[in-house]
Amino acid sequence: MSTVVLQSSIPDVPVKRGKVRDVYDFGDQLLFVATDRISAFDYILPTGIPGKGELLTRISQFWFDRLSVENHFLTTDLGRLSLPAEVTEPLQGRSMIVRKTQVVPYECVVRGYLAGSGWLEYQQSGTVCGISLPAGLQESSQLIEPIFTPATKAEEGHDENISFEQMQADDQIGVELAEQLRSLSLRIYAEGAEHARKRGIIIADTKFEFGLLDGKVILIDEVLTPDSSRFWPQEKYQVGCSPASYDKQFVRNWLLASGWDRNSSPPELPSDVVEQTAAKYSEAFRKLTETGRCTNDQGSSFSEFAD
Ligand SMILES: Nc1ncnc2c1ncn2[C@@H]1O[C@H](COP(=O)(O)OP(=O)(O)O)[C@@H](O)[C@H]1O
Ligand SMILES: [Mg+2]
Repeated sequence: MSTVVLQSSIPDVPVKRGKVRDVYDFGDQLLFVATDRISAFDYILPTGIPGKGELLTRISQFWFDRLSVENHFLTTDLGRLSLPAEVTEPLQGRSMIVRKTQVVPYECVVRGYLAGSGWLEYQQSGTVCGISLPAGLQESSQLIEPIFTPATKAEEGHDENISFEQMQADDQIGVELAEQLRSLSLRIYAEGAEHARKRGIIIADTKFEFGLLDGKVILIDEVLTPDSSRFWPQEKYQVGCSPASYDKQFVRNWLLASGWDRNSSPPELPSDVVEQTAAKYSEAFRKLTETGRCTNDQGSSFSEFAD
């Protein structure tokens, strides 16, 4: 596997660094570079996960090719940027050129199962983001149908769950765009979850981001990756408990046991935790994208979402 990249660099190009991605501004296009950084409990850890950036990029690209929605992906050919080879070479494989959009400032979350903040709210009020759910659900129960539960995109700190009505009431959004975001999100979650289910992965919930470009809504950011979603291995799924998350279980468990106070710089991860985590990202990619592998007999056609 390639060397671990914790931070990329392109001289003289404006960059915005997120938790995982370094996003370079080339005018109407962005270079979207997934580093090997990993975050947990809202902290970026000092240790990288080898191969992670490349796998995240390939998983998003896999979905962009297949989901029935217009998206920001343009190319992985970095030659288009007219930069020296020594600058682009370390970025190959982990980067994509995308169309720059005006980001819709909401996380478009879809939940097919009761987990995380949804499970916490349900126990208190029987609702998730204001949506009433039937009584008697347990942790990790599958919902009768997936629900759209938007959250604000906080620049710092935690995103805040809001109701769909609050999103509609936002002057920047309005009723029509809110409806469009909800129906797009529910549709592509259904497409993705169906594909993953056949490959032995439950996508319990996920977060999409959308952007506006020439008056149109397009899918942006990363899509249906283990970082933006809860992936659960089908064979370990059990109602009434919290399934181990696909990718970050080793990191979270180790950090919790390490004595770190979650209020200061996090410690370096030991190499076995790094290796186990890297293996999980690789397994998720392989399971989702491998041809001819299927956990049931309904076919594993790759063209199921292709237009
Ligand atoms: N096509 C796009 N146009 C403009 N901004 C985008 C586009 N796609 C993604 N972004 C933004 O790029 C950033 C991706 O970096 P990331 O490391 O995921 O950040 P974060 O820590 O906010 O999750 C996000 O802020 C996202 O909103
Ligand atoms: Mg992100």
